[in-house]
Amino acid sequence: MSDGARFEPLGPLRGALRPPADKSISHRAAMIAAMGEGETEVVGYLAAADTLSTLTAVQSVGARLRAPEADGAAVVTGDGLGSAPLRISGVGLRGARPATIDVGNAGTLLRLLPGWLAGQPEGRWTLDGDESIRRRPVDRVAEPLRRMGARLGAREERLPPLEIEAAPLHGIAYELPVASAQVKSCLLFAALLATGETRVVEPLPTRDHSERMLRAAGAQVSRDGDTVVVAPAGRLEPGRIVVPADFSSAAFFIVAATLVPGSKVLLRDVGLNPTRVGLLTVLERMGAGGIEIEPKGEEGGEPIGDIRIGHSDLHGCEVGGADVPLAIDELPLVALAACFAEGTTTIRDAAELRRKESDRISTVTDALRALGGEVEPTEDGMVVVGTDGLRGGTIASHGDHRIAMLGAVAGVASRDGVEVAGMDAAAVSYPGFVADLGSLQDGPWRGDRSG
Ligand code: S3P
Repeated sequence: MSDGARFEPLGPLRGALRPPADKSISHRAAMIAAMGEGETEVVGYLAAADTLSTLTAVQSVGARLRAPEADGAAVVTGDGLGSAPLRISGVGLRGARPATIDVGNAGTLLRLLPGWLAGQPEGRWTLDGDESIRRRPVDRVAEPLRRMGARLGAREERLPPLEIEAAPLHGIAYELPVASAQVKSCLLFAALLATGETRVVEPLPTRDHSERMLRAAGAQVSRDGDTVVVAPAGRLEPGRIVVPADFSSAAFFIVAATLVPGSKVLLRDVGLNPTRVGLLTVLERMGAGGIEIEPKGEEGGEPIGDIRIGHSDLHGCEVGGADVPLAIDELPLVALAACFAEGTTTIRDAAELRRKESDRISTVTDALRALGGEVEPTEDGMVVVGTDGLRGGTIASHGDHRIAMLGAVAGVASRDGVEVAGMDAAAVSYPGFVADLGSLQDGPWRGDRSG
C-alpha cells in the first residue's frame, strides 16, 4: 500500500522558495548530452524519479555520467546528484549502443528517445515501463518515424513495449495531428540523423525547449511560421546546459497562494518560457490580480524570473484552443481553482488529458467531486461550477504525481482538509513537495503520514 498524507487548512501561505529543476528541460539535457561530442556539464539537473530514469537510459546506451566530487567515475544516483553539476560524456549522434530500457513512469523519455535511436547506423532497442506507461500511446511517434524510414514495432501497434531497429532515415514534411511537444521533439531528434530537411508543422504552439537546446548545441533548427525546420547534423556540442526551476512545479504554489486568503509567496528563478506559462494567462482571465512577475533575464537559453503571488477572488472563464498546450500540465489546477471561482469554468479541446500519467479528465473530476466540487467530465475537458471552495475529504493519486499534488493544494485551501492516498507519486517530478508546501504554511505543519 502506498503512502498517504493529510493536508490541513492551516491559514495563509507565507514564504519564499525555488521550485525544483524543470523536468522537461532535464530530460532533454540528458538526451542531448548523450548525443553530444565529449563532456556536457548540466547545471541543476532534476533529481526526481522521471529524470533519474532518463539518466539510467542514457547510461544504458553508452553515455557516461559523473558528478565532479564523486571522484570521476561514479554512476550518478539521485543521492549523488545534490547541487553539483552533472557531467555527461556523450556517445555522439551516431554511437548509441543497443539496450533494453526501462523508462519507468516517464512519458517524455518514452516518446523522445526513439527519435534518436531509430536513426542509428546499427542496433536494436526495447523501451518499456511501469503500468501507467503501458497505457500510453506510442503510435503517435511510431507512425511519423516510419514515414522517415524507421523500423519499429509496438504492442497492438500502439502501446509499449516499443521495439526499435536501426534504419536509415530521410527527412519528411509532417503535420502533427495533435499539438504535442513530445512528438515534435522526437521528430526533431530523428531529423538530425536523416538525409534531407525535415519540416514539422504544429497545429498550435507547444513547448519549444528542444528547439532552443538543439540550436545551442549547434544544430540548424529554425522556425517558419507554424513549422519547425531541421537540417541533418554531423555532430552536437552542447557544452553546458543550465536547468531553470520548473514552472509546472511552481504552479501548485501559484494556485495555492491564489486560493488561500492572506497568502504571500515568492517563487524564485522559475522558467518563464512563453510556451509553458499558459496558466498565468488563464488565471488572469479568471480575475487573479495578485500575481506579479519579475523577469530576471535568461538561464541556459530559457527566460527566468521571480513570481510573487497573493490571494485573489476568481470568476469562471472559458479555456480552450491555444490555451491548452501552453497549460497542458496545469489544467488540473485550473479545474481546482474553478471550484473556488464564482460562476462556471469550461475546459475544452483538452482530450489529450486522457493520455497523461492517468486519464486526467476522470481522475481530476473524481478527485474534485470527492471533495465537494461540482464538476462534470466531457469528452475533451470538463465543466466546473464554482461552489465557493471545497469541503475536503479523501482522494487517490492513482499513481499520478500531478493528481497527488493537486490533492495537497486542495487540502490547504479546503474547509476540512484532504487525505491523499498515494502521495508518494509526487516523487516522479517533485520529491520535496510535501516539505516545501509545509514550509509555506503558517503554524505547525500537520501533513503527517498515515497508512
Ligand atoms: C512534455 C510535453 C507534454 C507534457 C508532458 C511533458 C515534454 O506532453 O504534458 O508532461 O516534456 O515535451 P505532450 O507534448 O505529449 O502533450
